[in-house]
Amino acid sequence: MTAAGPLTIDERKRAAALAALPLIQEGMQLGLGTGSTVAHLLEGIAERGLDVAGVPTSEATEARCRQLGIRLLQPSDTERLDLAIDGADQLDHALTATKGGGGALLREKVVAAMSDRFVVIATSDKLVDRLGDSFPLPIEVVPFATAPVARRLRDRGYEVELRTAGEGPVVVTDNGNHLLDARVAGGIEDPAVEELWITALPGVVECGLFVDLVDQALLADQRGRVTSLEPDGR
Ligand code: A5P
Repeated sequence: MTAAGPLTIDERKRAAALAALPLIQEGMQLGLGTGSTVAHLLEGIAERGLDVAGVPTSEATEARCRQLGIRLLQPSDTERLDLAIDGADQLDHALTATKGGGGALLREKVVAAMSDRFVVIATSDKLVDRLGDSFPLPIEVVPFATAPVARRLRDRGYEVELRTAGEGPVVVTDNGNHLLDARVAGGIEDPAVEELWITALPGVVECGLFVDLVDQALLADQRGRVTSLEPDGR
């Protein structure tokens, strides 16, 4: 909190990211997420000179790690990662997350699933009662299947948009795929059911619902205070 008022969103993202640094121990193999919150984490790792190596979840994160001198790993270099840290688009109270606003959901999910612990860093306004309403659910689709998958989603009640760069061209992910952004009025009732239904559609590579993956969320409020949440019963 400054004399001028509450922290900016970026200052809050930085507060959440810095709160994750004490979880990182020397020698750890990390999963390194993508986005503007993770950007602060990468800078924190570099500033503290932590001796770690990480699997980047996007070409953007990989490039930033190279600039900062953070050692890189490939998923094939290790059986497990000690800890993955990433942002989220939204989280519900069960700590199911939606991710992929930055287009990196596929590699983010692969990395989260191969990590012993997965920690989300975000601003507290991303905590919501229902996912998929105020912010769309990103779904990565092979380009051949974009139209039929969009039709199936619309038939199920979603409003669907093919992601483009503003008024520009269709966005192509690091994996050469398209992204469909899907919203449903009132939000997603049962994320686990929905994740299974969506990922069973032919041509869907992955969806941005992260169910039973988040072990801890560090959420920064307007004053920069960080609350740590863990899911019940896990
Ligand atoms: C990237 O694909 C996303 O999953 C990001 O983690 C998510 O969009 C959060 O991004 P920010 O940290 O930029 O808000």
